[in-house]
Amino acid sequence: MTAFSLGALLYEGKAKRIYATDQDDLVAVEFKDDATAFNALKKAHLAGKGELNCRISALLFEHLIRCGIPTHYLGVVDATWMAVRPVRVIPVEVVVRNVAAGSLCKQLPIAAGTVLEPPLLDLYYKDDALGDPLLTEARLERLGLLTPEQRQRLGDLALQVNGALRSLFARVGLELVDFKIELGFSAEGAIVVADEISPDTCRLWDLQVNDPQDRILDKDRFRQDLGGVVEAYGEVFKRVQGVCPEAGVYR
Ligand code: TMP
Repeated sequence: MTAFSLGALLYEGKAKRIYATDQDDLVAVEFKDDATAFNALKKAHLAGKGELNCRISALLFEHLIRCGIPTHYLGVVDATWMAVRPVRVIPVEVVVRNVAAGSLCKQLPIAAGTVLEPPLLDLYYKDDALGDPLLTEARLERLGLLTPEQRQRLGDLALQVNGALRSLFARVGLELVDFKIELGFSAEGAIVVADEISPDTCRLWDLQVNDPQDRILDKDRFRQDLGGVVEAYGEVFKRVQGVCPEAGVYR
């Protein structure tokens, strides 16, 4: 690492570590090879996952920036490290669903694979101890995390991200079934996309494959014990890399 020196470990999550640096306006993100599911009830070490998620996230953040969507991303540093702007993360997991899958089908009588048009926006309160509960608008208002304008902006940005990513993935034969993003406030007070965007946080189906298990190219392979997790992430990287400029190295 040349452009900055690492400082204190600020936060360790299930799949990443966040470090301060010698620059106030820069933090470093290390992508780990750890995988968890079901609120960390299921855990594994998947060699190579951290590098793939770092590289995929970098390409996707750069694509969002080209689409005019603000993010915390600055550049890649090396295989598993990314440079980002410090943000105050909003403790809301923002999920956009284009096709019914996962928890939606467990909680509501909607068959897996049902196309959701318009896409469904679900907000969850980010708190592992509480199991990331689904928020209602009234509960979100009660928590006082966002003004009505900020809540509107959060939803608008999530749907813009959906549009940008959905068309990018479609170009490489992948269906963006759903995804989760986290957003935060930049030093200037703007809401920006933060965290990561990778097969850990998206459901991606191979449009050329009909088999409902074989088409899965995301963390559901790990959740459902289907095997080939890192291989699937590698396939996503290869396809996205084929249509994106090389990720910029932070200097
Ligand atoms: P869900 O169907 O389990 O609610 O997941 C919706 C999307 O959000 C899916 O693409 C996976 C992603 N997700 C995360 O990134 N982190 C999580 O903790 C959960 C529960 C889902």
